[in-house]
Amino acid sequence: LAQIEIKMADIPEGKSVTFKWRGKPLFIRHRTQDEISTEKSVAVNQLRDPQTDEERTQHPKWLVVIGVCTHLGCVPVANAGDFGGYYCPCHGSHYDASGRIRKGPAPLNLEVPTYTIKEDVILVG
Ligand code: FES
Repeated sequence: LAQIEIKMADIPEGKSVTFKWRGKPLFIRHRTQDEISTEKSVAVNQLRDPQTDEERTQHPKWLVVIGVCTHLGCVPVANAGDFGGYYCPCHGSHYDASGRIRKGPAPLNLEVPTYTIKEDVILVG
């Protein structure tokens, strides 16, 4: 009931598409090779909420996160901000393409929900 199924074919490379899940926005991002390489090369010990890209993704091409800023709950904008991932316009939090907080007041990375990747679909919930 609370699970949703998203067809990967509906999300072109380089795009982050917003779905609604359990009353919250859910971002699914089909990452480019450049984004994948950039996120994998980040020095984790310099992050406010240290997590490797591998810890945050099940498949490098796909980022699945809850679209709620961890500061005060606004919805960040995709493909914006200094780190090319998401930008929260409410008070200026910048997230990278792994959904990790990089600059601004938010204390934590964007939350990764429970999900499963099958052949051509992502099941969230
Ligand atoms: Fe996102 Fe404050 S709610 S920066």
